[in-house]
Amino acid sequence: MIAALASGTGTILEALISAELPIEVVLVDRPCAAEKVAERAGIPIELVERSFAPGFDRDAYSESILAALAPHRPRLIAMAGFGTVLGAAVLAAHAGRILNTHPSLLPAFKGWHAVAQALGAGVSETGCTVHIATLEVDAGPILAQEAVPVYSDDDESTLHERIKQVERRLYPTAIRCFLAGMQAAGASRGDKEVP
Ligand code: GRF
Repeated sequence: MIAALASGTGTILEALISAELPIEVVLVDRPCAAEKVAERAGIPIELVERSFAPGFDRDAYSESILAALAPHRPRLIAMAGFGTVLGAAVLAAHAGRILNTHPSLLPAFKGWHAVAQALGAGVSETGCTVHIATLEVDAGPILAQEAVPVYSDDDESTLHERIKQVERRLYPTAIRCFLAGMQAAGASRGDKEVP
């Protein structure tokens, strides 16, 4: 039912798996530790390797993602530390059904360097945000947020780990609520097969 998208160490993915969310496939955009996490859990992996060369064709890559996901017929896509901005084709095909967790209190500190930016800005707290992905990066409707304190001796890695500890709890809960909402909406429409 859920396709998880990952690129990194896979600790967020691991939290989704531990929460027993129905993840049917893990798609990665590069060889990464998240593959091992999926492998240990016996979840099929789709490696759709992206290029980092200049001129990377995001639209073509997005079509490849769609093709890889299609046989799995995901109802929901959960980005779990996915390092590629999704192109319009994926967002259109799964509009309103792609979730992401981001390590800041959006709308503050969008983008790849959210933790470093929070440190640089000298804020006393930052946090994490679960939101629906839209074409504009890190700007979609917010589903859940939680604040995390910033300590004076933090570096990017200690602060990010403190944020991730919250993400590993908040994201599975938010996904579960979202799935319940989808199911209720399907039932009220009289769908024969609800997610
Ligand atoms: C998380 O902080 C998530 O918000 C961000 O990427 C990180 C993934 O962590 N998008 P991990 O690789 O799963 O440990």
